Amino acid sequence: MAVLKYIKLTLPMMLASLTFYAPASVSADELDGAKIYQQHCASCHGEKLEGGIGSSFLNHIWNYGSHPQLIGMNIKFGIPNLEMPGFKEILNDEQIGTVVAYIVEQDAKSELAAPKVPDHIKTEHYNFKVDILADNIPSPWGIAFIDANKALITEQSGKLYLMLNGVVQKDVIKDTPNDIALGGQGGLLDVALDPDYGDNGWIYLSYSHGLGADGILSKAKVMTRVVRGRIRDGHWVDQQVIFQADEKFYSKSRGHFGSRFTFDEKGRLYFSVGDRRVPKQAQDLSRPNGKIHRINKDGTIPEDNPFVGRPGALPSIFTYGNRNPQGMATHPETGDIWSAEHGPMGGDELNHIRAGKNYGWPEITYGVNYNGTIISEFTAKAGMEQPIIHWTPSIAVADIDFYNNAILPKWQNNLLVSSLKYRDLRRLVIEGDKVTHREMILKGLGRIRSVTVSPSGAIYLLLEDPSLILRLTPES
Ligand code: HEC
Repeated sequence: MAVLKYIKLTLPMMLASLTFYAPASVSADELDGAKIYQQHCASCHGEKLEGGIGSSFLNHIWNYGSHPQLIGMNIKFGIPNLEMPGFKEILNDEQIGTVVAYIVEQDAKSELAAPKVPDHIKTEHYNFKVDILADNIPSPWGIAFIDANKALITEQSGKLYLMLNGVVQKDVIKDTPNDIALGGQGGLLDVALDPDYGDNGWIYLSYSHGLGADGILSKAKVMTRVVRGRIRDGHWVDQQVIFQADEKFYSKSRGHFGSRFTFDEKGRLYFSVGDRRVPKQAQDLSRPNGKIHRINKDGTIPEDNPFVGRPGALPSIFTYGNRNPQGMATHPETGDIWSAEHGPMGGDELNHIRAGKNYGWPEITYGVNYNGTIISEFTAKAGMEQPIIHWTPSIAVADIDFYNNAILPKWQNNLLVSSLKYRDLRRLVIEGDKVTHREMILKGLGRIRSVTVSPSGAIYLLLEDPSLILRLTPES
């Protein structure tokens, strides 16, 4: 009976893949991941896991969820509308568990884990020299330049580093916030300098703030928080909290903190707060999550913020319906704010951020849930903004920065975009609200958390898995 079902289930797939593949000779309770894989998966995913009609399992890319539990669900139930069959009639949970362990292990061992960083790269217009500035900072998150040769770098575990002439200093800045809750996507996140840093010395930090205790917190309720302070003699001093949500908005979730910064031409600070994994709250103006906020440098609210005076709305909100923006940048010419946000499975977005607008999450989205079920049947609705572009499947879009330096005139105002999942750096040519050209600049190294153009026009990349700080210097 089981065999019959199996043949019925796999026959159309065999035809689709045009690969002959013998029905089960593996015994029903077989518990060898490699054997199960060869028997049931190799015809589509490749004998060496290199991919075929199904995806490769050696590229660190999991389009449909990377958590072992999600991988297991994809195997058990299949992926709707794709030719990935469900195996729940054929493999028991334990067998699925061993095959998950096998493919995850093979993926981890694959050569991508130790990529070779090229010395030089060529692009359509320019060539770059590539330097590895550091390979020992575990999860660098944000970078802010004091001048062409001096920058501050945050590291997710809570450290704030100074980089001088491309060398990350061993001694971290002392006395930085000690109420950071680590775990998941939390930690010390972005860093930015005050637009008038030369006069006032203010530095802005965002992090997942834990309530209730000092030190590195593991079980606390958390929420994105923004502080500013100064550095004096290697110490963080003069700290002021400039954005903190009410305690009732703190939660145990360690995901979707958003928190990327940008300033506009009037010196107002924009930062994102992700939906904290409760999608519908992104539509609720009485809550800070799932929003992009705008505040003055001292934390006060700009009088012309779009929801000032609206009963029940938080006045710092600038836009809503934002899932988890981790890229923010100010257009060098128009001064407009742009953001990139993570979609669910599919539906990563690039958005042009305008006061008071609703970006739709989760009422409209191009993505679906990780188990393939529908979040919303709508991709558009009246009163909700469309993304400039969306990436489906998700590239796990992370940071963005506009290129703004006279040394590369052909790249002026182009947008650099980094991807975590696809491990690449892209260049988008943008005219008005249209992307007119795209180029892949670099790929296959690591998850690129952050891309930032330095005052000298070099491009700095912060990567994790493996952890690297790279500098791309234009060659004349
Ligand atoms: C008939 C062909 C076929 C067979 C047999 C098959 N798969 Fe797939 N599988 C696919 C296709 C097609 C996809 C979707 C690829 C895409 O478009 O990204 C997929 C996707 C997946 C994914 C999701 C990958 C990601 O990027 O998240 C996993 C995991 C997976 N398959 C595991 C398995 C395992 C384990 C087996 C054996 C038990 C198996 N598949 C058998 C065709 C197949």
